[in-house]
Amino acid sequence: MGRGVNLGNALDAPREGDWGLRLEPALIDRATRHFQTVRLPVRWSNHASPDAQARLDETFARRVDAVIDRLLAGGGFVILDMHHYTQLVGGARHPNEFAVDRAVVEARMVSLWRQIAARYRDRPPRLLFELLNEPQGEARDASGQAPGATSVPAAGQALGGERWNRLAAQALAAVRETNPDRVVLIGPDDWNHPRGLARLRLPPDRHLIVAIHSYDPFGFTHQGVPWRQPLLPLGQTCCDEAQRRTLRQALDTATAWSRTAGVPLHLGEFGAYREAPMESRAAYARMVREEAEARSIGWAWWEFASDFSPVWDASKGQWVEPLRRALGIAAER
Ligand code: BGC
Repeated sequence: MGRGVNLGNALDAPREGDWGLRLEPALIDRATRHFQTVRLPVRWSNHASPDAQARLDETFARRVDAVIDRLLAGGGFVILDMHHYTQLVGGARHPNEFAVDRAVVEARMVSLWRQIAARYRDRPPRLLFELLNEPQGEARDASGQAPGATSVPAAGQALGGERWNRLAAQALAAVRETNPDRVVLIGPDDWNHPRGLARLRLPPDRHLIVAIHSYDPFGFTHQGVPWRQPLLPLGQTCCDEAQRRTLRQALDTATAWSRTAGVPLHLGEFGAYREAPMESRAAYARMVREEAEARSIGWAWWEFASDFSPVWDASKGQWVEPLRRALGIAAER
């Protein structure tokens, strides 16, 4: 799936625009012109009825249709990802997110996938589904909350191990009712870190990819993020031999697992927060890209044009050059 990017912080905000980004056609086209794969995070859970049926809000779904079709028109791969279902993983609700009864959070996920899959059944195979971003087990080295989220699932609500294996199998079965062959991505618990692979049990299915994320070294990539209290200290640099070794070990764990399981990998997120020193961010981007590509793993940078680690500066209409170069993306096409 080559070089890719996340169109994050738009449709995964509680409402599109809440986090300062809307997916305008020109922005979508820029992403598809330069990247072979675009991962599209969507917060379906906040655009559906709060009951177990989770009936999709048709206006929102049409908005997602339009974005998906524009992305597909670019000719590359599109990963449609269920993102920030905070209440399913025991996280704190974000502003503008409505409350859901805990008793129905899992049924809602399955029902959402049944509807999403039926809706997109006739789209080309270049559209892939990703069941859930970063299910969170008991691990404390959290890599992925949005502004305002707490970093740790509430007691007893973590989505890891057998609970996640069971739910992923149910959601996959709902997808397979209408999409027998579409490629589906499933990631390990522990925020999709390769550490979680030891607990992942996939249903027998010939059309799966395992999604992993990498924010190692975490103290470097997440320095200064406001949702992590106390703040991780600023001024951390990257990448020395020990830092590279940490990354290599994680990717080697993943490739060994992948070979044994016979299931390919995709690195769906990596990035370094904008408060980190730029030279180090570029070195980090280059390091992860090189290590992934050396193992033939397709990747997607987090993210294209918003808060965490944009490679495109939407306010200036220009690339963030050091990151663009480090990711090996051609400036013009
Ligand atoms: C989350 C973002 C976060 C990023 C890095 C993503 O999975 O959705 O909100 O900025 O990880 O932590």
